[in-house]
Order: sequence, then C-alpha cells, then structure tokens
Amino acid sequence: MTTHEHLMPPTLRILPERLVNNLERARYQYAVRMQNIPHYYTVAKTWADHKDGMSEELMWTVWEMRKHDVMRPFMGREQHYLDVNGFSYWTMVPRDEETMLINRQYCTHGAYDSPFDAMAHQYDDSDRPWRAVKDEREALYAPAAPSGRVLDVGCGTGLLVDYCYLQIDRERYVGIDPSAGMLARFALKHPDYKAEATLLRTTFEDYETPLRFDTIVAMAGSASHVTGVGIVEKARHLLAPGGRAYLMFYRDPAAAFERMGIEMPPLAETPEGAERDGDYVALELARDG
Ligand SMILES: C[S@@+](CC[C@H](N)C(=O)[O-])C[C@H]1O[C@@H](n2cnc3c(N)ncnc32)[C@H](O)[C@@H]1O
Repeated sequence: MTTHEHLMPPTLRILPERLVNNLERARYQYAVRMQNIPHYYTVAKTWADHKDGMSEELMWTVWEMRKHDVMRPFMGREQHYLDVNGFSYWTMVPRDEETMLINRQYCTHGAYDSPFDAMAHQYDDSDRPWRAVKDEREALYAPAAPSGRVLDVGCGTGLLVDYCYLQIDRERYVGIDPSAGMLARFALKHPDYKAEATLLRTTFEDYETPLRFDTIVAMAGSASHVTGVGIVEKARHLLAPGGRAYLMFYRDPAAAFERMGIEMPPLAETPEGAERDGDYVALELARDG
C-alpha cells in the first residue's frame, strides 16, 4: 500500500460563457463590515441593466450559479459555492429564493491551501552542480515543445518558461497555478511575463476560458495534482483543432515529495497509456485538426 490516496475525478464541468463573463465583469466592493471573512460583493445597482434596484441579468446569473455549484461546510452549516478562476461565489438566501447580491472571495478551499506556498522560494534550487541540473532540466522540458497558444497547467515558478523561453510567445501564454507563492516566484523571475502573459491563480478544475490552446502542458508532476476533474477530458476540451497536450504525472510520488521536502497532498490516478519518462510518467494527446 502506498502512502498516498488516489482520487477518481468527477465529470467535466463546462460553464456557460455568459455566466463566467457576468461573474468576472461585475463590479465588486469589499465587505468592510465582515473583515473576519475577507470577501467582496456585487449588487444590482452596479449592473448595466439595473432598473428600480433589480437586474434581470444578475437574477439569471444567480439561477445559473445554482445549477453548477458545490456544497461545502461553512461555520457549522452548509453553504453552496461556485468556484471559478480562483474565486468562490455564493449567495446568502435559500436556494429557491431570488437575491440581488452575489458574494465572492479568493478561493481558500483545499486545493488552494497549497503546500507549495511555503517552499516556493527554494523550489528551483538544487544541491547538485548547476551544469548537471541544467542538462537534466533541458531534457525534461524539451518534450513540452510549446508552440502557438500555450496553457501551462500547474506552471509553478515558471521552469517551462525558463527552459523554453525562445519557443513561447508570452502574449499567447497562460500559466495557471493555485499556489500564490509559486506564481509570485514566477513573476519575480519573469517580469515581462507578469506584464504581458496571463498568470492566473486558479486550479485547473476551476479554470474557465473561451480560449482553445495549441499546446497544453502539465510539467514535472503537475498533472497528478488535478483531482477534481479528469485532466485528459478537460485538456481535450480545451485543445484547438490540431493541438497537442503533454501531461506529466509523478512516477513515484512518495520519492518526489521526499525530494521536495513537503507533505504529499491527495493525488490523481495516472491514466492508462501514460509512458515512463525519467522520474515521471507522461501522456501525450493530440486533437485532429
Ligand atoms: C511539482 S510542481 C510542478 C511545477 C511546474 N510545472 C514545474 O515544471 O516545475 C506541481 C505544481 O502543481 C500545482 N498544482 C497543485 N494543484 C493543482 C491543480 N489542482 N491545478 C493546477 N495546478 C496545481 C502546484 O501548486 C505546483 O506548483
């Protein structure tokens, strides 16, 4: 028996673009009266279609949220949340009632409570001679072969960008990761990416976008961290015609986490068909063009 849990992912969630746009483009204000639970809220009067304190669009958004949300305990009771692109959204009224207020907070649920945050500043370091590390990493990142519009799932501190810098068009690069610490390190190393690329603090599970990608990668074990959705299914869904995904799972998770010196979180089962690639097991997918 291994020391790590294997989780079977639920089915693919696809949110309507109108819902995501409404949630993301709304105007939010900070809830100054509840600083113990830092969050923001939007009300009807700030929505473009508002009339007499009502907004049809906000009302539609609330009903649509309820079709896709998940339940989590909150202060001894049940609360329904919709998690999208690093934010959790919720309303306070019973689920069959209308409301003119939507709350949101930066995601704090399990997947965002990252063991990588604390070690991000030393993630890139190694005790071994730099030349050996460089050769090894060049070999590790070369098969990613990023081209066109790139999605880097679990981008971490940006090692893919370090080693494939010349192949990546930063204006068409999207790096996502739930760890604020890893992303801060990335932005420190690559201020040009911070300015021109999209670096988003979100899990792959909560990532929603109308974009379709020519290359989707999850390097150096990142694919194993996606437990809340089938990574293969979701990657297929996000690939552009002719696109290619390269997903790396840990081969020996216990050894990998021992090496990184952090506690191992629950990891996803490695899908059939993945092939051994050094310390990892890699799966390549193509979408016919
Ligand atoms: C071993 S690191 C690999 C980082 C980077 N890909 C690399 O090549 O160095 C695994 C990364 O996956 C991220 N991660 C954890 N859960 C995730 C999730 N659900 N979706 C996307 N990334 C996740 C972690 O925060 C961490 O940065």
